[in-house]
Amino acid sequence: MQDYINPKLILESSAMEPGQVTWQSPSNLAIIKYWGKHGRQLPRNPSISFTLQTSVTQTQIDYKPREVAGQGVSLEFLFQGEPNPGFGEKQKIFMESLLDIFPFLSQMDLTIRSGNSFPHSAGIASSASSMSALALCLCSIEDQLFGTLGEDDAFDQKASFVARLGSGSACRSIYGGMALWGKTGEVAGSTDGWAIPMVEDIHPVFQTFHDDIMIVSKEEKSVSSRAGHGLMEENPFATPRYEQANRRLHELLPALRQGDIEQFGRIAEDEALSLHALMMTSNPSYVLMQPNTLEMINRIRRFRAETGHPVYFSLDAGPNLHLLYPEDAIHEIRPFIDEELGPLCEEGAWLPDWVGEGPEEI
Ligand code: DP6
Repeated sequence: MQDYINPKLILESSAMEPGQVTWQSPSNLAIIKYWGKHGRQLPRNPSISFTLQTSVTQTQIDYKPREVAGQGVSLEFLFQGEPNPGFGEKQKIFMESLLDIFPFLSQMDLTIRSGNSFPHSAGIASSASSMSALALCLCSIEDQLFGTLGEDDAFDQKASFVARLGSGSACRSIYGGMALWGKTGEVAGSTDGWAIPMVEDIHPVFQTFHDDIMIVSKEEKSVSSRAGHGLMEENPFATPRYEQANRRLHELLPALRQGDIEQFGRIAEDEALSLHALMMTSNPSYVLMQPNTLEMINRIRRFRAETGHPVYFSLDAGPNLHLLYPEDAIHEIRPFIDEELGPLCEEGAWLPDWVGEGPEEI
């Protein structure tokens, strides 16, 4: 597998002009979940996701020749316009881990300004959007300085590779529509190293699918995804889980091609519940769903059974619920949200979102 280690990406200091890059990049929602990893951020099973449209991070990097020579990366980090030493330190450690891939980063003074479209404390995972935005910015800087990533495919592939190192799920946010990450015999060109776009294999009904986010709790989750992945190593159900994910991918791909919403919805819900079952069977076990998450699940299933409307749910590693439905059901589903789900959200907060077009350079 390509590892992108390249000691040649280093500049004559005199050749560097100050510059700036800005990317806006979305979050994504996995239908087949990535849960369990090994090595340098390699997944234990393939995953596939919807890229979202409105839940985005915008990241701007200003760079200039480094004034005071030193080790590592020289970085000032502002989040939502304010200095944020906690986030800044994490980004610095991550960028220092990339010095074998982008050695020129040690030659610069960098200022990163990053912000999310969604409220900071909405309890929404922001690592996919923030790490993909950062990776895209770093690839743009490389391309500005060295002209090495002019081809779109080469650029996207490297951005996805780097995003993966920051946060596994982030590698899928590089592409609009749907993206697949992880080697599987089902899809040519799939690999553990980066995600690939799935646009051509997706029925139009899924290209405009809605994915509204019901905020059950704005609180930060008690166990991070990173820790959760770690617990999979000792989980007694790990091996059958990875087999199950592969089997479900095998069932999902034809449903996506054919526009089979019922099969899609069944798999999406089963995956969400399997993810949380893995948390409950870890050692130590933990529960991230809350009473209102379960109440919403029951109401969605009851509404579906009573009305026949195609509405399904998914969950990330947290209590918030993603409501999935096709565009042509919106007039039936929105009143259902207003009457039945909205009142279960913290302060009534929910975020309309849908399958998006992918990142944008600003
Ligand atoms: C439940 O990508 O957040 O959202 O690689 O440790 O950063 P790290 O984990 P992360 O895990 C995401 C898990 C998930 C499922 C998914 O997005 O596939």
